[in-house]
Amino acid sequence: MNGPAIKVEGVTKRYGDLQVLKGIDIEVPRGRFAAVIGKSGSGKSTLLGIVSGLERADSGRVLVDGQDLGSLDESAMADLRRRSLGVVFQNFNLIPSLSALDNVLLPTVFDATKSRDEHRGRALDLLKQVGLAERADHRPAQLSGGEQQRVAIARALVNGPPILLADEPTGNLDAQTGADILGLLLDMCRICGTTLLVVTHDLDIAAGADTTIEMKDGRICNADA
Ligand SMILES: Nc1ncnc2c1ncn2[C@@H]1O[C@H](COP(=O)(O)OP(=O)(O)OP(=O)(O)O)[C@@H](O)[C@H]1O
Ligand SMILES: [Mg+2]
Repeated sequence: MNGPAIKVEGVTKRYGDLQVLKGIDIEVPRGRFAAVIGKSGSGKSTLLGIVSGLERADSGRVLVDGQDLGSLDESAMADLRRRSLGVVFQNFNLIPSLSALDNVLLPTVFDATKSRDEHRGRALDLLKQVGLAERADHRPAQLSGGEQQRVAIARALVNGPPILLADEPTGNLDAQTGADILGLLLDMCRICGTTLLVVTHDLDIAAGADTTIEMKDGRICNADA
């Protein structure tokens, strides 16, 4: 498909009296790695929530994988999220009662285009790629933080999404583990040509990105291409 993976035009968002986003324009070409940086409260997670379709913008336009999010009803939005987006959060967000394998399989539950065995094979392959083949039967409480985040990465990639969004994916990990996890994420995305939009406080991560988008008080204050 032509056009950028993500295009945000004039997006605003208000929570009560607080104008959190004041007119955001960003564009992330396909296959690129863009980092979003900025102080706490500047609106980074709000922007990611809007791009991921979890929140709606008050005004402006958001195109994800060529689709205008404003034109999608809830069910079309859910389809787009399943097909086109993988999401990784700071706190891993795994389901405590499910094994690592079943957590990775969650996004495939509604995908009837492949058999359960095919999905299972892909999930096991991803767990192997993130170095957790031996931990497939472990529940999250039986895994370290870094291992849990690797499960979350495998889950985000299981449907082969063209775009991966991550909000401080290394924020709860020690520096070395965080660097390892980010390296893994980048390698897996490069191999698949996945577009990556990552919110981070880590300037080393931002320095490795193709584009750095800096937010300040609800606006973009620079975007280095
Ligand atoms: N659901 C909400 N209701 C009310 N206010 C909110 C809501 N979500 C975020 N905010 C406010 O919007 C502002 C921006 O929040 P956001 O989470 O986007 O910041 P952030 O840049 O991700 O910060 P951090 O680096 O601390 O994660 C903050 O002042 C926050 O309190
Ligand atoms: Mg945030």
